Amino acid sequence: MVSSKNFFAVVLFMALLVMTMSTGIQIGSKIDGNWYDAHATFYGDMKGGETMQGACGYGNLFKQGYGLETAALSTALFNNGLTCGACFEIMCVNDRQWCIPNAGTIKITATNFCPPNYSKPHDNWCNPPQKHFDLSMPMFTKLAAYKAGIIPVRYRRVLCSKQGGVKFEIKGNPNWIVVLLYNVGGAGDVVGVKIKGSKTAWIPMTRSWGQNWFTATNLLGQTLSFQVTLSDGKMLQFDNVAHANWQFKQAFDGKTNF
Ligand SMILES: *[C@@H]1O[C@H](CO)[C@@H](O)[C@H](O)[C@H]1NC(C)=O
Repeated sequence: MVSSKNFFAVVLFMALLVMTMSTGIQIGSKIDGNWYDAHATFYGDMKGGETMQGACGYGNLFKQGYGLETAALSTALFNNGLTCGACFEIMCVNDRQWCIPNAGTIKITATNFCPPNYSKPHDNWCNPPQKHFDLSMPMFTKLAAYKAGIIPVRYRRVLCSKQGGVKFEIKGNPNWIVVLLYNVGGAGDVVGVKIKGSKTAWIPMTRSWGQNWFTATNLLGQTLSFQVTLSDGKMLQFDNVAHANWQFKQAFDGKTNF
């Protein structure tokens, strides 16, 4: 027979297990590192023209640490913007004419969306369910001659390696705040953000678009802290990232990274 003391110990253990699982803290479901088939094209020019801004909400990709090592993802990979910030390793495969021999692999961060075009009868590579990377031209030309136009590739998710801390750019007005997260290491794709003013509890933010996170709370005049959760379940807390007299359009350095 189970003693009541043991019974309560088991109940407590189960409760803690459920709490830990629901918060996601330190329960890392790893990113999928398997290789998959896809295709790749390029957009913009050798200087990265046209690749700036875009559907993830990032701005000047050079200032934000992404540089030219970027791609726009088709609907099947973009996941409505949740994949923004994730990193991929890509190689050219099965194209003797165009794959540069021994080109090796490239690593890119997802920074944009390659929109489908349903009225286009041919070459509609970004339409679902096709997995497609529209690379910056400098990245594409590491794998194949630009004349190839489109190449078959194999890709896998990899951890992002970023210099410096996670960055938080604050936008909005006194009625609401949108925070853009960029330069995120580790899994790279943020799936949850909480914000805390010096006078508030933790407030869950909702993803507005790309990596822009929203809350309709007036936090002016308060020191801001963040809790950030990535797709692999890893969570980091960034205490007092923005000082009390922060202004809209300013970006703050979380100092640490995943
Ligand atoms: C979609 O494809 C059609 C047919 O090729 C083309 O005329 C149109 O400009 C494309 N739309 C966009 C938004 O690129």
